[in-house]
Amino acid sequence: MTTSVPDSYCRLLARGLRRSHEEPFTEFCFDHGAQGVAEDLAFTQPEITFDPTVVETGRFDMNVYFASHPGEEFLLQLRSRFPEADVSVAVEANQDWMENWKKGFEPFLFVDPFWIVPSWREAPPEAKQVLFVDPGMAFGTGTHETTRLAARLIVSAWPRIAAESGAAPFALDVGTGTGVLALVARKLGAGRVMALDIDPEARRVARENVALNSADAVEVPETQLHELPASLNGAFDLVVANIIDGALLALREDLFRVLKPGGALVLSGILTEREGPFLEGFLAGRPERNRRRMTMGEWSSFLIR
Ligand SMILES: C[S@@+](CC[C@H](N)C(=O)[O-])C[C@H]1O[C@@H](n2cnc3c(N)ncnc32)[C@H](O)[C@@H]1O
Repeated sequence: MTTSVPDSYCRLLARGLRRSHEEPFTEFCFDHGAQGVAEDLAFTQPEITFDPTVVETGRFDMNVYFASHPGEEFLLQLRSRFPEADVSVAVEANQDWMENWKKGFEPFLFVDPFWIVPSWREAPPEAKQVLFVDPGMAFGTGTHETTRLAARLIVSAWPRIAAESGAAPFALDVGTGTGVLALVARKLGAGRVMALDIDPEARRVARENVALNSADAVEVPETQLHELPASLNGAFDLVVANIIDGALLALREDLFRVLKPGGALVLSGILTEREGPFLEGFLAGRPERNRRRMTMGEWSSFLIR
């Protein structure tokens, strides 16, 4: 049996509602057929903290969704009960967001020689090395600056990583998302790659992408970084982590614990405007032989040895 999606829905926007009216407003809307409400929250992230803070405001904007127009009588009552709000109503077309998004995701040269090709597309003839990716709900189509920076640093560091490992290098990708950076490491010649993510959906998607690319040497365990056993201390020739800077700081001790002495650590997801305090905190008390920095847009990435 298939369920059909209606062609349109109705969105009511109430701007400038008084905070004290939040409950009575939503209750009134639900009593009159609303199917859902969504508040536009204001955020701030002043420090290198992972979680943005919600700014408490006296007034706020609320979206209310109805299957069809709620009627003029309802709007009259709403305006008289909540006179401070500026209320507007629009009928909007339902779209298959996923299908629309898929249409815009084209094969592209990710980092030479690697092309990223959506799993539902053919690889173009000029693609020398192909990474097939189906992102599902995970982060990592390869288009984000932080991913591209991390991939570039891995590719540029690889000859030395391979030369110094003495065997097929062992790589760790922390915050793997779709698994795209783990796949780069494997395709470059890593003998074994471990890919970790705190999000179970990302782990599922990463495993699918590993299978799509027949990259059996990439394992996606259920384990978290801090759970990696002591037998893996100093085991990885390459550790890559593309996560927001605050999370990298929290993972710092374990990232260093599992990195081989002299190994390559690629860090990405650092806002350039915060890189000074980030590096100070991340490298505090650590001997560092050299560092390479790359930037793109508002992001910085580092290769640290
Ligand atoms: C910015 S995405 C990077 C995805 C992919 N590596 C890329 O470069 O496109 C960050 C990923 O890190 C994961 N993550 C966040 N905090 C984490 C942590 N403490 N340990 C492991 N994974 C984490 C998120 O679930 C997300 O999939």
